[in-house]
Amino acid sequence: MKVLEMVICLIALGFFISEVGADGTGWGGRNGDGLSFYYYQKSCPQAEDLIARLMKDIVSQDARVPPRLIRMHFHDCFVRGCDGSILLNSTSNNKAEKDAAPNNPSLQGFNVIDQIKQVLESQCPNVVSCADILTYAARESVALTGRFNRYAVRGGRKDGRISLESEALQNLPPPFANVSSLIQSFALKGLSLEEMVTLSGGHSIGVSHCSSISGRQVNFKNSGIPDPTLDSNLAASLRQRCGNVSTVDNIVVMDTITPTTLDNKYYTGLLQNKGLFTSDQSLLTDTRTLREVGGNSALPSAWGTKFVNAMTKMGEIQVLTGKQGEVRRKCSLVN
Ligand code: HEM
Ligand SMILES: *[C@@H]1O[C@H](CO)[C@@H](O)[C@H](O)[C@H]1NC(C)=O
Ligand SMILES: *[C@@H]1O[C@H](CO)[C@@H](O)[C@H](O)[C@H]1NC(C)=O
Ligand SMILES: *[C@@H]1O[C@H](CO)[C@@H](O)[C@H](O)[C@H]1NC(C)=O
Repeated sequence: MKVLEMVICLIALGFFISEVGADGTGWGGRNGDGLSFYYYQKSCPQAEDLIARLMKDIVSQDARVPPRLIRMHFHDCFVRGCDGSILLNSTSNNKAEKDAAPNNPSLQGFNVIDQIKQVLESQCPNVVSCADILTYAARESVALTGRFNRYAVRGGRKDGRISLESEALQNLPPPFANVSSLIQSFALKGLSLEEMVTLSGGHSIGVSHCSSISGRQVNFKNSGIPDPTLDSNLAASLRQRCGNVSTVDNIVVMDTITPTTLDNKYYTGLLQNKGLFTSDQSLLTDTRTLREVGGNSALPSAWGTKFVNAMTKMGEIQVLTGKQGEVRRKCSLVN
């Protein structure tokens, strides 16, 4: 290409990028823009395989890791996009996302990301972003806990420099949310009603603290009785584990049918009124979400495909790419 053509090309490209940047999100571009497969092929070709190997080792030592990282990825992407903002520590004058009530103390696994980052820094310094590490690690978490093919993930997310408690509170749906507010909070991130129900299947693995179930097992909304929409056997076993809420903040499994497998049994449990949170149960209260729940319960492999697609889409929300953001040296600190 001649120099002049190249210059024109670059100007056109710059124009295109700035157009995309001006889409009203206030940061990042249109979802997924600027990401690519094999992003680290030249700069750190071993990155994805290395993360896969490390995750396999780490998870063989600690089976709690996959659900933690799947949830962490969701909480990263819903607040300022998938920019690693969930990983930043609070500072003396800023309370960060990770210390907001929806995350602290229930969200764990930060040390796993730090550990992976340390290995990557020793092999390819300043190359692989924390936002990408979390996205790849979440993908491995899905592959290791479900009967999923290891799906392809695009790379190129840059790390943000801002993390605010207030934005975590605004953007992360609470466990007592009703179906209309769930639909709305996902729509604000560009995810459909169907994708919201599909992604709720994340609750087919992992655990919750008793304090998150809003007393459904004993004294629902101060009615003095358990939530009538909660299966009474599950309510009884939750009373055994949790007693009268927050006396001891024990841990309970989210999917009683297959607690450690990422599968569609979450939906089967839901149809038996065994969803743990009001937000889970509320998926039965709207004919459109109920239809999705029924379909996902009936068709495991169709749900699997939809789950991978929705995870991919969630993983590309409002990403920073190109010259935006930075590649952090430590995931808990801005450079
Ligand atoms: C639909 C709205 C959602 C609400 C209201 C919600 C809420 C919660 C709450 C309250 C917990 C338990 C925290 C605790 O007390 O320890 C939890 C755990 C979890 N959530 Fe969600 N969540 C939602 C969507 C999602 C999505 C979209 C995913 C991923 C695709 C996800 C994945 C998980 C996982 C894997 C856990 C278990 C974490 C662990 O074992 O440590 N959730 N969620
Ligand atoms: C971030 O906070 C965690 C937990 O308090 C701490 O272990 C870690 O060392 C901090 N990171 C840095 C870079 O100071
Ligand atoms: C759902 O929750 C939102 C937010 O708390 C509330 O404004 C709305 O009135 C609720 N809708 C229904 C149908 O209960
Ligand atoms: C829970 O609280 C109720 C009312 O305060 C009380 O009657 C009951 O014995 C308590 N149950 C447990 C398991 O502490």
